[in-house]
Amino acid sequence: DKGGWSSFMAKEVSEEPEAVANTVLGRVQDGQIVIPELDGLDGLFQGVSRVIVLACGTAYYAGLVGKYAIEQWARIPVDVELAHEFRYRDPIVGPETLVVSISQSGETMDTLMAVKEAARLGAKTLSICNTQGATIPRESDAIVYTHAGPEVAVASTKAFVAQITALYLLALHVGRVRGALSAEVAGAAIAELEALPEKIRWILENEQERIEQLSRWMSDTRSVLFLGRHVGYPIALEGALKLKELSYIHAEGFAAGELKHGPIALIEPGQPVFVMVPSPRQGATLHAKVISNIEEIRARGARVIAVAEEGDAAVLPFADEVLRVPLAAPLFEPILAVVPLHIFAMGLATAKGLDVDQPRNLAKSVTVE
Ligand code: F6R
Repeated sequence: DKGGWSSFMAKEVSEEPEAVANTVLGRVQDGQIVIPELDGLDGLFQGVSRVIVLACGTAYYAGLVGKYAIEQWARIPVDVELAHEFRYRDPIVGPETLVVSISQSGETMDTLMAVKEAARLGAKTLSICNTQGATIPRESDAIVYTHAGPEVAVASTKAFVAQITALYLLALHVGRVRGALSAEVAGAAIAELEALPEKIRWILENEQERIEQLSRWMSDTRSVLFLGRHVGYPIALEGALKLKELSYIHAEGFAAGELKHGPIALIEPGQPVFVMVPSPRQGATLHAKVISNIEEIRARGARVIAVAEEGDAAVLPFADEVLRVPLAAPLFEPILAVVPLHIFAMGLATAKGLDVDQPRNLAKSVTVE
């Protein structure tokens, strides 16, 4: 039931605040992370010297964001791999490896087979999943459910923000269990997590219409590029994937620092480029670097659409459009910055008269390899 919305996707994007809120719900007690599903499983995180995150598509991008949080809070090195690549390369994995799989459906065959292979090699396995009782969690030693609610549209939206949220909860939990993280830092992160739903709602209420208008203006665009650095990089990849799968136009995401190593050759007058601008508080250097990337592409005629923190005045002279997101601590920015990109991809596909719930050639759950 679309509940009055024009599509399941529109409904599910509107549910992004609840997807985050419900994933946090019941997992914070007296300012501490408590994940009931992991009760009695602290042993799973002892002796772990390495984390490998396995997933496909949008879930893989959530994993790329999660890497920053796990490394920062739990101080364990993290590799993030496409599940279908992992399986076929004779991976070096053993009991000191914790494999974290991420899957909305819990039925993605590529991810399932990779988890089975990791388990066969002796790794500990933990699954982040949105579907109760699905196959991947059943094959794993531990489960952390995302509580995004059923996702019907083929393109993943609310599950993505819930996946990042679950990864953050996991990172904080493991950081505490292993003594790598102070209660104070964990407490501040929890406060940030709890503040996110209201901030996502702010974007939906204040920016959605303007973004939809922008997507209508751009409905005959042939190609869109997305740039980001640090946690903004996986969001650039996600923005590009959502746009290509929904609107069938060429879209590509790059790490902003890679520009001069090749992709800048693509920039010609009129080329639209979305740029994820990190908060100036993320460190002046990172912010300044992205501004200078914007200058480089602007000088070559790019049309810059910046996704930037509300109040970041430095970006204004350099961008043709600024899509605003509320202030958040640096690691939490991706959960906000992705929302305008989901709205944009949906808006552009709608403007082209396409079915946003059921893009061509795609299935919601990919149960073949
Ligand atoms: C993109 C999308 C896909 C899925 C991928 C993994 O919008 O939905 O890329 O993220 O097929 O699916 P799950 O999470 O069910 O394993």
